[in-house]
Amino acid sequence: MSRKIRNSKPKTRASRRSTPKPTSDAKRRHPAGNQVKTTANNDYAVLERINDGIVIFDREMNYAFVNKRGGELLGRQPGELIGKNYWQEYPEAKGTPFANAYLQALETQQPIAFEDYYAPWDRWFENRIYPSRDGMVIFFTEITERKRAERLLKAELQVLEKISSGSPLAEILATIVLNIEALSRETLASILLLDPDGIRIRYGAAPHLPGDYNRAIEGALIGPQAGSCGTAMYHRKPVIVADIETDPLWDNYRELARQHGLRACWSTPVMSSDGTVLASFAMYYREPRSPAREDLTLIERATHLAQIAIERKRAEEQVAQQLQRISALHAIDKAIASNMELHRTLNSILEHVVIQLGVDAAAAWLVNSASNRLELAAKHGFRGGGIPHLSLKPGEDYAGQAVHERHLVSIPNLKEAERPLNQAYLANGEEFVAYFGVPLIAKGEVNGVLEVFRRAPFAPPADWLEFLATLAGQVAIAIDSAQLLAGLERSNFNLTLAYETTIEGWSRALDLRDKETEGHTQRVTETTLRLARAAGMAEDELAHVRRGALLHDIGKMGVPDHILLKPGKLTDEEWEHIRQHPVFAYELLSPIEFLQGALAIPYCHHEKWDGTGYPRGLKGEEIPLAARLFAVVDVWDALRSDRPYRQAWPEDEVFEHIRTLAGTHLDPAAVELFLKVMNRAG
Ligand code: C2E
Ligand code: SIN
Ligand code: SIN
Ligand code: FE
Ligand code: FE
Repeated sequence: MSRKIRNSKPKTRASRRSTPKPTSDAKRRHPAGNQVKTTANNDYAVLERINDGIVIFDREMNYAFVNKRGGELLGRQPGELIGKNYWQEYPEAKGTPFANAYLQALETQQPIAFEDYYAPWDRWFENRIYPSRDGMVIFFTEITERKRAERLLKAELQVLEKISSGSPLAEILATIVLNIEALSRETLASILLLDPDGIRIRYGAAPHLPGDYNRAIEGALIGPQAGSCGTAMYHRKPVIVADIETDPLWDNYRELARQHGLRACWSTPVMSSDGTVLASFAMYYREPRSPAREDLTLIERATHLAQIAIERKRAEEQVAQQLQRISALHAIDKAIASNMELHRTLNSILEHVVIQLGVDAAAAWLVNSASNRLELAAKHGFRGGGIPHLSLKPGEDYAGQAVHERHLVSIPNLKEAERPLNQAYLANGEEFVAYFGVPLIAKGEVNGVLEVFRRAPFAPPADWLEFLATLAGQVAIAIDSAQLLAGLERSNFNLTLAYETTIEGWSRALDLRDKETEGHTQRVTETTLRLARAAGMAEDELAHVRRGALLHDIGKMGVPDHILLKPGKLTDEEWEHIRQHPVFAYELLSPIEFLQGALAIPYCHHEKWDGTGYPRGLKGEEIPLAARLFAVVDVWDALRSDRPYRQAWPEDEVFEHIRTLAGTHLDPAAVELFLKVMNRAG
């Protein structure tokens, strides 16, 4: 065939046409002697309507007919070929696989079909040869696009495989680059990963660019000073440098480019689905040039793959970080649980004080550092019960005086004192006569006051006063450490809050992986909570239900993308992966103390009422209630949403279907409650 052996390398069809061959000219002047007349074209008029290229040869391989489409594909005018002999036209053809196919077809009289790549044009053709005793008809058509798509798909599958097998990000990005280089001839490529800080280049994945380039780019701030890629990331749009020699964007890197023979560079930012810049993808050429259509397809696919890889990795990192935080949280939980609460601690201390000091009653006040007031925290031995809400200013009453003076206030006989005890809690006939108030001082800070009372006058001996001071010291320390714990508890509470929001972020990251399920998790969580409330579950159980629902499909992290995002039906082997997702969820979440109560839904949401579900085939009420309720909501929301493998169902059909699942797939009571909650009962 002509295209196999043509030795010029025309760039376009037009330029091919404008390069006439001397041999053709010679022949055109001497058409006589050829057996086939150019008028033969009329006999073949019907063949002009066929969309394939068609060439008809006689037995001696003279061109009898070339249709218009054939001329286009070959870059020749049909008229300049008719009547010429193939072997004279293309003497170099002898011995090529292509020419051999002609001879073989003629000899065997068997049709032959084959694909062939013509390197100088970088194009693929599909050919069918139908021989007869008079010669042969050749149908041919260009399949370059299809071939490119096939190779691209193969490359993508390879990258997706790497992503789901958990390869390091740098390796995945390098694989993308290598695949693009293999697909596009004479191209070098690179991906520069942006640091999550959004301003610095973390590293370059550019296996075929020189090491000094990679070193130069690492850690550089994005912006025009970091070349075309830095600019693409900075301005969040593609940058085309058709000629590095003249473009100021390459001023800093031109020497490098010259050393390594790079002349053109096109950079495209890789964006996340929420619009932040993740990386840049660039193609480099050895000649000045601008992108062609095939290049744009490659760029688009490469940036898409890079986006998937980076987002997936970031989601995984987030999960790992969350696991760490949950363990920290658990450690603090435990520390608090093993300590008594402050007021219980104080009560038992006061009981101890009353007995040890031989007094009638004792009270403890604490300094509230926020309001700078003294607040009554505990009392023991009083006639009136309860702890009234009382607070004193510094200096107010004897307790306030003890704090203010940081010194014992001793009133052996209140009847002889300058001023009475006028605290409200003493009003109702406590009949106290002797009063002692000691400031509670720990680490140099007054954190409260300990008061003791007797209902008779009392002049304390020195050892009693000493003992009072010792006890006060202990109380001060107890209060100090209790307050420390309370502080921890407060930050623990904040940590829990932070946790709830990160779990939500986590679940959104999961939804992100499959665009079709976007918002699914939030919706099923809200609806499941309504259902659980209607089923009478307690408030603390609801917190678990909420976390469980948010994380219900966390196990799909372990299912490769090519299965999860597959547009069609799953094979048995692929189903095996899907059936593992609840088990994977269990393995992932069960070591986390904080999520113990939330396991039911992730682990059991695909069990079925009649025992035919997975992973364990639980039956009826063996399935935890939360999971039975959730299953209804999950199926409902799955059916009313588009999936990679099918379109959404109409709302009415979804409810109808749920009804038919009662008693087989789903708990009938759960279905009934669900229909009621959704106002679809009856
Ligand atoms: P999912 O898409 O979130 O679906 C959750 C559950 O809703 C399914 O659990 C099933 O009980 C119900 N469901 C969803 N779509 C349909 C449907 O078109 N018809 C019917 N009758 N029920 C439906 P199941 O079957 O255990 O599937 C679990 C997960 O496996 C699905 O989650 C999905 O991620 C994946 N999956 C299931 N079938 C296919 C499939 O044909 N192709 C692909 N690519 N994935 C599938
Ligand atoms: C030719 O002119 O080489 C025959 C048609 C073809 O290229 O398939
Ligand atoms: C790049 O585009 O790959 C960064 C270097 C440059 O463009 O000058
Ligand atoms: Fe699931
Ligand atoms: Fe789901």
